Amino acid sequence: TTDMRELLLSRIRDVSDYPKPGVMFKDITPLLADPAAFTALTDALADMCARHGATKVVGLEARGFILAAPVAVRAGLGFIPVRKAGKLPGATLAQAYELEYGTAEIEIHAEDLDGDDRVMVIDDVLATGGTAEASLELIRRAGAEVAGVAILMELGFLGGRARLEPALRGAPLEALLTV
Ligand code: PRP
Ligand code: MG
Repeated sequence: TTDMRELLLSRIRDVSDYPKPGVMFKDITPLLADPAAFTALTDALADMCARHGATKVVGLEARGFILAAPVAVRAGLGFIPVRKAGKLPGATLAQAYELEYGTAEIEIHAEDLDGDDRVMVIDDVLATGGTAEASLELIRRAGAEVAGVAILMELGFLGGRARLEPALRGAPLEALLTV
């Protein structure tokens, strides 16, 4: 609803020149500290999981974990972490992706998903789309289907939606807020 979106937006703080000059950082910590806002966000994302028939919730380290874990509990689904490389102890699949400067790598436990799973990916922000794109690659390589990508906030001016489009293969990309 409009009220819910206004509540969420009012709890996101703009921090200019962070982490470097010229960048406007979207700080979600005021939202997390407000139980009404955090509950509204959790309910809205859990509703997306139900609408799109998800069987598992993937959260993207680190801020995506904070949102995705309560969503998984609320939706009654298992939570699967996609971690930055080197943090998962079991047999992993790894996927590299481009950063503004250099590359990064994320991993998933291969055994956490199987062919029957439909996965909802949850993260706080869609910027260039590189992180989300790499996570979709991991999910498909693990043998599962993508139910969708659910994001708190899409930074429209960075073109992440267009970049992600081919990797979605028709699955929905839903952002609660677009700035
Ligand atoms: C931020 C944000 C998203 C990602 C979006 O995470 O939380 O995960 O960037 O950027 P992209 O669309 O250009 O890939 P970041 O890797 O900065 O770290 P954190 O979540 O661990 O704080
Ligand atoms: Mg992140």
